[in-house]
Amino acid sequence: MTQVLPTMLPVVLPHDLRVDPAFAGVATRAWATAAAKVDALTERHPDAFPLYTRGGRWVVDGEAWTNWCEGFLGGQLWMLSERAGDAAARDRFRAKAEHYSTLIEHRTADDTVHDLGFLFWSTYRRWYELTGDPRLNDVLVAAGRTTASRYRPVGGYMPSFRRPDSLFIDIMMNIHLALYAAAQTGDEDLARVAVQHCLTTRRHLVRGDGSASHEAMFDLATGRFVAQTTQQGWSDAGSWARGQAWALYGFGTVYRFTGDRRFLATAQATADFWVERTRTALVPPNDWEEPDPPRPWESSAAAAAAGGLWQLAGLVQDPARSRVYADHAVRTVLALGDPQFLADPDEDWEGVLKHGVYHERKDLGVDESVMWGDYWFLDAVDSIERYAGRRPAD
Ligand code: GLY
Repeated sequence: MTQVLPTMLPVVLPHDLRVDPAFAGVATRAWATAAAKVDALTERHPDAFPLYTRGGRWVVDGEAWTNWCEGFLGGQLWMLSERAGDAAARDRFRAKAEHYSTLIEHRTADDTVHDLGFLFWSTYRRWYELTGDPRLNDVLVAAGRTTASRYRPVGGYMPSFRRPDSLFIDIMMNIHLALYAAAQTGDEDLARVAVQHCLTTRRHLVRGDGSASHEAMFDLATGRFVAQTTQQGWSDAGSWARGQAWALYGFGTVYRFTGDRRFLATAQATADFWVERTRTALVPPNDWEEPDPPRPWESSAAAAAAGGLWQLAGLVQDPARSRVYADHAVRTVLALGDPQFLADPDEDWEGVLKHGVYHERKDLGVDESVMWGDYWFLDAVDSIERYAGRRPAD
C-alpha cells in the first residue's frame, strides 16, 4: 500500500539552473499589477469573491456554475502581504488576507463540492506556514477530512460536484488536502481513499499519449468505468488545456505527498504532452482539438501549467528533463508577462491576466480575467522568484 510521507518531498532544482534575466522585470510588473488590482477590487467590492470579469470588470454575484474559487483572492492577498513595497502596504494586505481567509472558514464542512484544496491550500496553508498556529492547521485537517468523506468505494473515487457518477481531472488539484490530513493525523483510511482516487483518475482520465480527459463517467451500481466526457473542453475526446494543467500539477503534488513513482510518471506524461503542444504557442487555446478556435488563448491554463512544470522540474531525477520543464515554465511566465496578457497597473482592466476562459459552452468568463488565472500566475512567479534568489527558498 502507498504510504503517505510525514512531510512533502522538497522541490530541488539543478544547482546550475539559470533563470532568464528577463524574468526579474516580469516579476516586478506582475506584483505591481496585482497590488493595484487586488487593492481596487477589495475596496470597491468588500467581501466579494468574483470569478471572472466581463469586459474587464469583475462580475460580482454573477452566475458561477460551482463555488470553487473563494480561496484565490485570499491567496493573492497572502502573497502580496509578503512582498508589498512598504510596511503600511504589507500590513494592509496582511489584514485583508486574514479577513478574506476567515470569510471562507465555514466551508471546511462543505461536502457538496470537490474543490476544498483550492479554497484552503491557497489561504490557510499560507497562513499556517507563516504563523505555525495549530488552530489554522486544524482548519486544513478538517477540510481534508471533508474532501475524503466524498469517497465512493464502488468505483474508488471522490466524485465531482456535478453528479455522483462523474469524476473530474480538476480533483487532482484538491486531493492532496486529504493526504495532508492523513499525514497530520496518522489516519490510514484517509490515506487509502485518497491514493485510490488518484489511481482511479490515472487509469481512466489519463490517455496513452499523456493527454487528460476532463471527466469520466461510472456506473453507480457496479463502479464500472463507462466513458470519457467533458464539460469545459471542446469535445469528449478533446484535450481541455486547463485540465491538462490540473493533471500535471496535481499528480506532481500527490507524488510529493506519497513518494509513489507511479504518480511522478503520470505527472511527467501529462507534462510532456503539455510541452509538446505548447512548443510554439506557449499559451494554449481552451482545447487543442478545437478546429480553428475563435479565441486563441486560455491564459489561466498556461499560468497553472507554469507552476506545475516548475514544481516537476524540482522532482524529476534527470537533470536534462528538469531543465526542459524549468525552461518551459519560465518561458511561459515570460509569455504571460507580455502586455498582451499582463494588465498595466494603471489601466481600467480590473484583473491581472487577460485572455482567460472559464466556461466556453456556458459563455461564462470567456476571453476575460479569471480569479484562478491571476492566482496561479502569481504562484508561478512566486515559486520561480524564490529559486532565483529574490525571496527565501521553500
Ligand atoms: N471547474 C474548474 C475549472 O474551471 O477549472
